[in-house]
Amino acid sequence: MTRDTDAGEVAERATPNAPGHDGITEEDHAIPQWFNVTFFASIVFAVVYLVYYGATAWTARGQYEAEVAVATETASAARASQPAGNPYHGNAVAIADGRQVWQQICSACHKPDASGLVGPSLVDPYWKYGHTDPELFQTVMDGRPGGMPAWGAQLGSDRVWRVLAYLETLPKSEALGAGAPGYTPPAPTPGG
Ligand code: HEC
Repeated sequence: MTRDTDAGEVAERATPNAPGHDGITEEDHAIPQWFNVTFFASIVFAVVYLVYYGATAWTARGQYEAEVAVATETASAARASQPAGNPYHGNAVAIADGRQVWQQICSACHKPDASGLVGPSLVDPYWKYGHTDPELFQTVMDGRPGGMPAWGAQLGSDRVWRVLAYLETLPKSEALGAGAPGYTPPAPTPGG
């Protein structure tokens, strides 16, 4: 190793083109331009950021909270635009459409009079998932884990409201029906 007396630094080569040691050499290149540009740009950015952060009320938390407020607003507007209740209550045309859907699809599991078979009775006082319009709508659109398929993709929301409007017109029973806790099916009539 030789000491470069001019710069006072340790050089790998005594003179510019001298061979290196063990194939290792050290050159004295200029710093690449991309490095300097990035370096000074980040300093400029830091100064601007610092001034902006200090001089204005801006904070990352504040920006986040403002975005949450906007999203909450948008979500509640979207919810408000959904019908809160069945738009087809008592609408004869819609009920007739709903009746067709009921007979083609639902009656197989819930029985034509909705008194229950594989699926529970939908005319008794017991509701596992509730019987407000939004609850019924969700049951039929998205299905329920105990074997109720989701019909939203096949029927679309409009026909789901129609079939629910038809369901409302079926005669109700006071007694607990199929699927209700504590319900015991009637003993089969002999010979029948
Ligand atoms: C493949 C059989 C099957 C078909 C077809 C079917 N259901 Fe169901 N349904 C079920 C079963 C099983 C349940 C009980 C689900 C549970 O307990 O999680 C159920 C539950 C329900 C409930 C909830 C009852 C409660 O107590 O909360 C409603 C409402 C309902 N079905 C309406 C319909 C309508 C409307 C259709 C036609 C679009 C339909 N179902 C078609 C099997 C069916």
